[in-house]
Order: sequence, then structure tokens, then C-alpha cells
Amino acid sequence: MTKENSTYIIKTYGCQMNEHDSERISYILESLGYTQTEDLMSADLIIYNTCIIRENAELKIYGHLGSMKSLKEKKPELIIAVCGCMMEIEEAREVIRKTYRHVDIVFGTKNISSLPYLITQHLMANERVIDTEAVDDIDNLQKAVRKSDVSAYINIIYGCDNFCSYCIVPYTRGRESSRSAQSILEEVRGLVSQGFKEITLLGQNVNSYGKDLHPCSSFSKLLMELDRLEGLERVRFMTSHPKDFSDELIEAIRQGEKVCEHIHLPLQSGSTRILKEMNRKYTAEEYSQIIEKLRESIPNIAITTDIIVGFPGESDEDFEQTIEMVEKIGFDQAFLFKYSKRTGTRAATMEEQIPEEVKSQRFQRILDRINDICYEKNQHYLDSIQEVLVEGYSKGNKDMLTGRTRTNKIVHFPKGSVQVGELVSLKITGFNSFALEGEMI
Ligand code: SAH
Ligand code: SF4
Ligand code: F3S
Repeated sequence: MTKENSTYIIKTYGCQMNEHDSERISYILESLGYTQTEDLMSADLIIYNTCIIRENAELKIYGHLGSMKSLKEKKPELIIAVCGCMMEIEEAREVIRKTYRHVDIVFGTKNISSLPYLITQHLMANERVIDTEAVDDIDNLQKAVRKSDVSAYINIIYGCDNFCSYCIVPYTRGRESSRSAQSILEEVRGLVSQGFKEITLLGQNVNSYGKDLHPCSSFSKLLMELDRLEGLERVRFMTSHPKDFSDELIEAIRQGEKVCEHIHLPLQSGSTRILKEMNRKYTAEEYSQIIEKLRESIPNIAITTDIIVGFPGESDEDFEQTIEMVEKIGFDQAFLFKYSKRTGTRAATMEEQIPEEVKSQRFQRILDRINDICYEKNQHYLDSIQEVLVEGYSKGNKDMLTGRTRTNKIVHFPKGSVQVGELVSLKITGFNSFALEGEMI
């Protein structure tokens, strides 16, 4: 059905899950004969892989879709498709149905494998196709055309059962479902034989991996199995949830030679009262204890986090507790978000919504603190020797390469004779809050 030399472009929003889903969509399209283009205006097929985590993510997508209307009028044969988390929400599909009539195909997060069929259906009937029925088999996923040749994303668990009161993900990605270890190991072995050096295991809550399998398994067991794979250099994972962070997992990170010394552990708030309202199922104290244990076992571990400011009912005192916690823990990096009301979640119905102005003030205050703390953290790297996996060229400078330390710090350094994909030892010669500079030794 695809005409010769057809091109596609995927615009991806949101998290690593979506990035990896887009890599799988690329594989499907390339199997159908499409080739990738960077030029939106000339593409024959444009796919928007959407995110709905916060309101601004949603508005951005509606903005882009709106601007596609005139292009579609000029080029009626252009196919516009929308998929991803937004399309799992009925209200958002309704907006597409009513307001964005130039969208030809809608699919969801669990029927990516149906794409060839949906395209054919659209072309045959020349009408829009909206289908989000879950059909993908997580143990038999299609391959991916990956953005990197060095580092690969691997899905290990889908969905989320946690229902944090602010979060829409359980409604867009459904219930937790672990992929079989056999299917994961097979994919990783294949990647290693193609020369990949690093994998990042993906899930909304990786440390609840395996609980739903028969016989049941655990994330630590999976890490230990991956650690034995010859040829693989590094194993990363995200995101972990503090409530399921076991001692066994700390031990697996400590023992696993390939398991990198970095953990992304969202704190969300430093106030136990707010954490309870958020339905996070841990206290500020319990979070601190996990960090203490982690640092005791793995002294050089880097810790990054997510924080929400302005959750409904957050008082000045609650906010101060978050600041105190940020200072006490000393995160290597923290991703900050202003609370955004998501229809359908419990927090959206809470009475004491915080005014935008207060959210902005708190955001700025904590951001300034975090930048200072990250600067201090990175300063410790000065003059140290770090193992860096070279991932590619620095943006806009072909004489510089970029890679990451085991602790996930980005390092820029002069290219010399180093190749992408190599593991090199670098001396750290400079830094700012976000990255390091290095040179070969
Ligand atoms: N599963 C991961 C993260 C998923 S979303 C976890 O449990 O941590 C990534 C981050 O977006 C969350 O950690 C949270 O900080 C933020 N987030 C989610 N919903 C949000 C909302 N309604 N408003 C603001 N930030 C939100
Ligand atoms: Fe959302 Fe909470 Fe699940 Fe993370 S754990 S995806 S924040 S509901
Ligand atoms: Fe967004 Fe979906 Fe990820 S809502 S953050 S793309 S799981």
C-alpha cells in the first residue's frame, strides 16, 4: 500500500517509554518501506507520540496538531497519526474527533503492532481510523530502530498500579505487567551481539518487576542475570519507587559489576503529610533511610530525583520540609515540576489547590537551591579519573565527544582518536551544575 519513497517523521513527547515506543514504531514503518526524514513539511506520514503527564505537555501537542491543519489542506495525501498516552484518555480522543478532523489515524500505547493494519484501513476506506484496543503481546514485541548504537532501552514492566493521587499514568498505561525474563534476556543478547554496550531497563516502577509472573520473580534476580551476560558493559534502570526498595536490591546494585552506581528515586515531597496525600506509601524518614543504606553500601552512588511543588494543600511548612530534605540528601540532579491538575485523578478534586503564583515562587526557590547543590556535587569530580562510555558527538561541535560516567554524569571531551562506543578513562577538568568536562589520560 505504501507508495515508493514514502517518508515518515515521528514527533515524540514525554518520557523514555514513549521514546522507546517511537523506536518500535520506526521499525514497523521501515518494514513497510517508509524511510525516516527530518523534514516535517515534506513527510508523507507524520506521527505524534503524545504525553499527558502535565497540562503543558497536552497543550503543546494541541498547538502542534492545530498548525498541521493548513499543511493537510495543501497536501491531502499526507497521513497524520496521533498515538501515545494522550490517546488512551477518552476525553482527549474526543477532542481529536471533534476539533482536529485532519488527524487520520489514532492509536494507543498497547496496539502499536496494529499500525500496518490501521494505515491500510485508512488508505482503503479513505477515512479516519480510531483504534486503541490493547492487542500488543509484551513477550513478543516487534524490534526497534534505535536512536543510539551504543545504549538501548529495554522494556521490562508495563503500566503502574500505584495510583499516586496526582498521576495520570495508571490510566494511560494500565495495570502492571512484567515481561518474561526469557524475552528480556533474548533481546539483550541480540543487542550485545550487535555491539550495544549499555542497556537501560524501563518501567514506571522497575523494582516491582516480577511480582506478577508465575513463578514470581524479582527485579534483583533480573539484575543479577543480566550482570552475567558477556559483552554487556553497563546496566541502568528507571524508575524505582521508594516503597518497593528492598535491601536485596541494594545488594544487587552493590554486587553487580555492570549495574551502574546511579539511582533515580523520585522523592516528590519532603513532607510526610503531603506524601500521604499523594498516596506515595512512604514517609520522608523512610526515604532518608533508603538513601543512608544505599550510601553505606555504595559510597559513590549518584542519586537523582523528581519533585513536585504546589501539590494541593502544600503549606509553607510542607514546602520548607522539601527544601530541607533536598539540602540534607544532596541530590546529584533533581527534576522539578509544578503540580498540574489532571482530570480523573484524585488530587484534581482536592479542595486546596495552590495558586499558580505560589507554585512559581516555590519552583524558583527550590530550583536555585538544587542548582547550587548539583554544582557542589559535580565539583567533587574535579581531577578524578572516570570511566566514560562514549555515546556520540557533542551537539554542534564535531571535535567534541560526549559520554556518561557510571554515575550518569554527562562528560564532554576533545575527540582525539576515540570512537563512539568505546569505554575510556578520562580526567575531569571542568564542570557546571549539569555536566562535566574531561580529557584523555
Ligand atoms: N513512575 C515514575 C515517574 C512517572 S512521571 C515515578 O513513580 O516516579 C515522572 C514525574 O512526573 C513524576 O515522578 C512526578 O514528579 C511528575 N508528575 C507526575 N504527575 C504530575 C502532575 N500531575 N503534576 C506535576 N508533576 C507530575
Ligand atoms: Fe505515576 Fe506514581 Fe505510577 Fe509513578 S508510581 S507512574 S508517579 S502513579
Ligand atoms: Fe507522559 Fe506517558 Fe511517559 S503520560 S511521562 S509519556 S508514561
